[in-house]
Amino acid sequence: MHHSRRFGTHAAGVATKFGLKKLAMLVQVLTLFPRLINDFVALGLPRIAIEKGALSVQSVDLRGFTHDVHRTVDDRPFGGGAGMVLMCAPIVDAVEALEQDPQTLLQHGVAHRVLLTPRGRRLDQRKLRELAKVERLLLLCGHYEGIDERVRLAMPWDEISIGDFVLSGGEPAALALLDGVARLLPGVTGDPESTVHESFEDDLLEAPHFTRPREFRGMAVPEVLLSGDHAAIGRWRHEQSWLITEERRADLLQARAARHAATEGKPWIE
Ligand code: ADE
Repeated sequence: MHHSRRFGTHAAGVATKFGLKKLAMLVQVLTLFPRLINDFVALGLPRIAIEKGALSVQSVDLRGFTHDVHRTVDDRPFGGGAGMVLMCAPIVDAVEALEQDPQTLLQHGVAHRVLLTPRGRRLDQRKLRELAKVERLLLLCGHYEGIDERVRLAMPWDEISIGDFVLSGGEPAALALLDGVARLLPGVTGDPESTVHESFEDDLLEAPHFTRPREFRGMAVPEVLLSGDHAAIGRWRHEQSWLITEERRADLLQARAARHAATEGKPWIE
């Protein structure tokens, strides 16, 4: 079995005077391109989560679970057609090897399996929040024209798509998911507010941001932001959020209205 570079450490929880500190979330990424995952994790936001002890990432090379000298992971589709299909055995063997590792099982529990595929349910901020609570994720990146259907039949998968478009492989989707989850882990962004009042958390897009200088090429920063009046600034931002959401994503407002009507029976406009 071949594992590529590992990140983070796997201490069995840290004892504190309040008991056992929660372990880092473990994300194992099963891929044909482990370097893509390693480089992203070494450079991007997940690195911060790892350094803060909230996250541990392992990229696992599917080719490490092949049995022939050519390390074959794909084959031509039965029935004909373009492209190649990822074979069952290397994937299922890899998943079983990872899941049966007793030490990982002891430390992180049973993995929540995620298959990145355009056939999956569309990822959104709510789903990211749900995934951020899981202690162990196994992400499987598809490739070529697809994955032998029996991988899905052999074991349950949470099938997730990052949008209605087709990528050549699941890696960018896995990285998008990993990034979105990592920034939600406790202690990672430092400011819990910064993940609460942002696009999509309330089904609204974010208000515009400004920083220095106060004037750039004749464009001035809105006066209210310089006023120091936090209530007024809050109202302005809320109003801007509504305006930009109405203009660009009326579908979000409709979904919001439907949900509020269904769950609260209260008027949904504040
Ligand atoms: N693999 C290829 N396209 C994808 C998509 N849109 N989402 C998730 N995984 C994918």
